[in-house]
Amino acid sequence: MNDIAFRRHRRLRRTSSMRALVRETQLQKEDLIYPIFVVEGQDKKNPVASMPGVNQVSLDHLTEEMNELEANGVLGVIVFGVPDQKDDCGSQAYAAEGIVQKAIRQIKRDHPSLTVIADTCLCQYTDHGHCGVIEDGVVLNDPSLELLTKTAVSQAEAGADIIAPSNMMDGFTAAIRKGLDEAGYSDIPIMSYAVKYASAFYGPFRDAANSTPSFGDRKTYQMDPANREEALREAKSDIEEGADFIIVKPALSYLDIMREVKNETAYPVVAYNVSGEYAMIKAAAQNGWINEKEVVLEKLTSMKRAGADLIITYFAVDAARWLTETNS
Ligand code: PBG
Repeated sequence: MNDIAFRRHRRLRRTSSMRALVRETQLQKEDLIYPIFVVEGQDKKNPVASMPGVNQVSLDHLTEEMNELEANGVLGVIVFGVPDQKDDCGSQAYAAEGIVQKAIRQIKRDHPSLTVIADTCLCQYTDHGHCGVIEDGVVLNDPSLELLTKTAVSQAEAGADIIAPSNMMDGFTAAIRKGLDEAGYSDIPIMSYAVKYASAFYGPFRDAANSTPSFGDRKTYQMDPANREEALREAKSDIEEGADFIIVKPALSYLDIMREVKNETAYPVVAYNVSGEYAMIKAAAQNGWINEKEVVLEKLTSMKRAGADLIITYFAVDAARWLTETNS
C-alpha cells in the first residue's frame, strides 16, 4: 500500500505567487462588455426590480454611466433601446431619431474611445414583443430580415462600431452583411448571437427592456437547450455568412457549448452572461448566502476557461473594479 507512488499536485499551490505563476486563465477588464438600457424622457433612472443595480436611464444620465465605465477601464458597451412607441413592425428600431440611434450618437460624441455595440432586434420595438414580423400568429423569417437590415444600417449610420443581431431569424447575418456593405459600412463587424437558446434565464431582461412576448414564446426561432450539434451548425452558417464574432447565450448552463464553438470555429467567442444569471447571484448575495465578488470573478473566469474571449455582463463595471483592486 505504502509504496504506491502518488503525485504531489499541491506543490504548485503552496503560495499565492506560485499559484499566479501557474494560473492558466486570466480574466481581464478588457474582456468585459457592459449592457445598458436607454429610455426616452428626462432625468430617468428607473431601477429594474429583478436586476438590483441595473437601471433604465435617459440620455441625460448616459454620460455619468459612460464615465464610470471609462474610469474602471471597461472598453465596450452594448446598447438596448426601450422606446415609448411600439407598433406591429417595430418602426422605432430603425428610426433615425430612435432612442438607440440617439444614444449611440451621444456616446460616440462624448466618449469616442468606447466601442459601442448595437443590439439589433425588434422585440423591444414591436407591440407583440416578438423579434420579427407576425402573420397569423407566426413569426415570418424573410420579411423580418428586411426590417432587421434597415435597423442595422440605421445603427451604423448613428456611429455604432459593431452590429450585434440577436433576433435568430435564419440568414440574418448574410442579410445584414449585405445591407451594411451596400450602405458603405463594410468595415463594421458583426457580432452575431449565432447560438442563442430559448432560455428561461432571460426573464429579468424582459422586465428591463419591456419585451415579453404578448403571446406564445420564442421557441420557433431560438434554440432548444437540449441541442449541441445544432449549435455548431448555427455557428458555422453564421461564419459562412460573414459573422466576425460568435455569441453563445446564456453563458453558465452552456459552457460546454462555448468550448466546442471555440474549438470548432477558431473565431472570437463572446459569452452573454444573461439577466437571470445576474439576478440569481444578486439575490443570494443580498441574503448574505454567498460572497458576491468572489462568486462573480469565479463565474466570469469559468467562461474564459470555457473558451470565451469576451463576456457581456451586467457585472462588467464591478468586476473591472474588483480586478483592479485585486491586482494592486
Ligand atoms: C433581444 C434580446 C434578449 C436578450 C438580449 N437580446 C431577450 C430575448 O431574446 O428574449 C436577453 C439578455 C438577458 O437576459 O440578459 N432579443
